Amino acid sequence: MVKIALFDAKPYDKEFFEIANSQYLFDIHYFEEGLNLETCLLARGFDAVCVFVNDPVTAAIVDSLCKAGVKLIALRSTGYNHVDLKAASGKITVVRVPEYSPHAVAEFAVGMMLSLNRKIHHAYARVRDNNFSIAGLMGFDMYRKTAGVIGAGRIGKAVIEILKGFGMKVIAYDVLPEQVEMADCPFADLDTLYRESDIITLHCPLTPANTHMINSASIAKMKKGVMIINTGRGSLVNSLDLVQALKTGKVKAAGLDVYEEEAEYVYKDLSLTILDDDTLARLLSFPNVLITSHQAFFTQEALTAIASITLENVKDFFEGNPCNNEVSSVD
Ligand code: NAI
Repeated sequence: MVKIALFDAKPYDKEFFEIANSQYLFDIHYFEEGLNLETCLLARGFDAVCVFVNDPVTAAIVDSLCKAGVKLIALRSTGYNHVDLKAASGKITVVRVPEYSPHAVAEFAVGMMLSLNRKIHHAYARVRDNNFSIAGLMGFDMYRKTAGVIGAGRIGKAVIEILKGFGMKVIAYDVLPEQVEMADCPFADLDTLYRESDIITLHCPLTPANTHMINSASIAKMKKGVMIINTGRGSLVNSLDLVQALKTGKVKAAGLDVYEEEAEYVYKDLSLTILDDDTLARLLSFPNVLITSHQAFFTQEALTAIASITLENVKDFFEGNPCNNEVSSVD
């Protein structure tokens, strides 16, 4: 029986993997610890490890897993920027879940836009405090405003569809312009998108080429008062530059489901500890910044699909079937 070590296991992971596994009957061990150089020793005797977005699979970890006899790294995520694919190449197979619910992430991104625009998070807190004043809570009609979508893949296309439904003018940029064409949306180069958008939302993968693409230079090209939403990956945005732009009002609101140093924080209850990341602390101090803990994916439909596609990937690999969900260093 295939033995799987599932790292960074939360109660909800166990719940959904146990349901999916009733069809596969793999021997899954759930480790609360994330995967790191120490914990990868736990993988000895397992055939596969299963990891999430904040378990960095470095070259040293790849070597350690290979020595432990692990044959497969099953990512239960779409993004694979946390894996050193060059190091894995020829040594260990890496599979991912290319699509589980683009709608989960798209709907969350739009939810952030609505909350930030209409200040619903402030309204909620005010009314609970018997403060029924609406002063300061004014937003703008999204109808007929321009949304710029960066990355018109599965999630970007779902966002485009929702925002068109709002009556927004939607423009999009993708390194593959045909993706934008398939979304039936006008293509805009990045400079045009920055110049024309009232709301900019990021749905591209993180690559070495686009790390910190949202920085002081790109922000300078944007409209004054732009809203930026990032549910992609934290390092798409230079957080320090964003802080500066929020201070001057150039950026009027930011919704961040991901943050470049998030691995230290996400999915942990640190409510009684001192936050030692000054940039994150500064971002949290802005009333017009909404930060969530990498939860855009978090719906029942997404967790169901993540568990079943991950286990199907494991089955395909160990039965020697072709697996479309393998990722390699040329991807
Ligand atoms: P996808 O692979 O379907 O689409 C990505 C699109 O981005 C493709 O059309 C690709 O051509 C384009 N692209 C690549 N590099 C680009 C660049 N430098 N500039 C503009 N476009 C570029 O991926 P999908 O499913 O739409 O996911 C997008 C990203 O969203 C993932 O890579 C992941 O980082 C993030 N994500 C975040 C989640 C969350 O919970 N916050 C959950 C799932 C994904």
